[in-house]
Amino acid sequence: MTALTVVKLSYFVAATLFLLGLQRMASPRTARSGIQWAGVGMLIATVATFFLPGLHNLGLMVVAIVIGVAVNWAWGRKVAITDMPQMVALFNGMGGGSAAAIGAVELVRFSVGEPVPSTFTLALAVVGALIGAVSLTGSVIAWAKLDGRMDKRYTFPGQQWFNALVALAAVACGVMAMTTLATPWIIAFFVLALALGVLMTLPIGGADMPVVISLYNAFTGLAVAFEGYVLGNEALIIAGMMVGAAGTLLTQLMAKAMNRPITGVLFSNFGGGGQAQEIAGSQKPIEAGDVAAMMAYAERVVIVPGYGLAVAQAQHKVWELTQKLMERGVKVKFAIHPVAGRMPGHMNVLLAEAGVPYDLIADMDDINPEFPATDVSLVIGANDVVNPVAKTDPASPIFGMPILDVVNSKNTIVIKRGKGTGFAGIENALFYADNTRMLYGDAASMVSALVSELKALDGGGH
Ligand code: TAP
Repeated sequence: MTALTVVKLSYFVAATLFLLGLQRMASPRTARSGIQWAGVGMLIATVATFFLPGLHNLGLMVVAIVIGVAVNWAWGRKVAITDMPQMVALFNGMGGGSAAAIGAVELVRFSVGEPVPSTFTLALAVVGALIGAVSLTGSVIAWAKLDGRMDKRYTFPGQQWFNALVALAAVACGVMAMTTLATPWIIAFFVLALALGVLMTLPIGGADMPVVISLYNAFTGLAVAFEGYVLGNEALIIAGMMVGAAGTLLTQLMAKAMNRPITGVLFSNFGGGGQAQEIAGSQKPIEAGDVAAMMAYAERVVIVPGYGLAVAQAQHKVWELTQKLMERGVKVKFAIHPVAGRMPGHMNVLLAEAGVPYDLIADMDDINPEFPATDVSLVIGANDVVNPVAKTDPASPIFGMPILDVVNSKNTIVIKRGKGTGFAGIENALFYADNTRMLYGDAASMVSALVSELKALDGGGH
């Protein structure tokens, strides 16, 4: 068997592991092992690549891998779960950047006299490089926004026209780069492609970031697959296609969850048109003892977790609270919004970690009709996903996004630390509603306080 056959067979094994891993990631029970399977697949593909005939710069490749592994191992070990989306955005951008770099190297290689491939292959190199470069700089902007390092939205008059011009110019330079293979065109093409990623992402904000991140994820996959074709590397093609397909499906799911067409997210500067409506009334505080009594004597309680629950890592305490209530005969359910938290499935993962049974967890569409019959909705560190202005204020950046209709419940209790806004940076009309009371404090300490108050109630003989 030749070295090449061994490499190709290894790629086949790696691709099978990617597929099986992806399949296992579909359920929280098997997701952890799915990641490991895919990781082993990637290891096999990487090691096998070193045995490709005619490879140069082995030393440089090893140095790059050692640096990458060391930095990311250290970072991955200490990253807080709430900072995962930023990390994912950045890693994803790096994938796009790598694909763009492959495109650049290939174009330069052909420009210095190496045999030029077919027009189709050249076109794929350019398209892959364009998508990869957009994904790189776009993901870096998404990272900066998620990490709170940048204003959420940056807009100027005529922005969409300007962006369209830059996109056209990038495509034109790409065509020139592949037909002439002249260095100035190649450079101009990459500068414009990188700029386009920044320009496209700057105006996007509010609650639309999840859609953008998964879209760039799909872009990276496509870019890698195209460049894999250019290099004739099956592992890159398969891995890229899978990321591209999974990313596209996720983007569609996210866009559906947010009720936004993808073109709307990218091109129409959602929200921010006109002045947001004033919210009348005031936020009315309440004490933990009163909340515990309300819930203890309620028939139905719905718990709505959000990003603040993840920050406070209050999931175990929340499950303890739920069990206490259920022991008293209260019917408790959890309401999950598809973009609650900072990554897809964030709340499901937290609740699964705490051991909350799946049959207590309800999706938005299933639970929304039940809110009018709910005695107490307990909102824990959620904000945007329960904000009724999404239905009432056309000027709001989240207008049109489906929300959990907590506002329809008989009583609402909101646990949050103070008057801080959510990810979209806007006021929440729910907090000012007549039947809403605010339990101010860290989610973990407040839920602990509720558990203690319930125990005290039990001790008091109720
Ligand atoms: P957010 O709207 O971000 O609100 C979280 C709230 O939690 C804040 O108002 C904050 O108020 C409170 N909080 C923070 N730390 C807390 C703590 N330790 N204890 C108690 N409360 C705490 O959360 P959400 O309702 O889950 O909505 C998610 C948002 O993120 C949406 O806009 C969504 O589009 C966006 N997003 C989602 C994703 C995905 S895929 N899920 C990805 C990127 C962005 P205080 O400061 O007053 O405590």
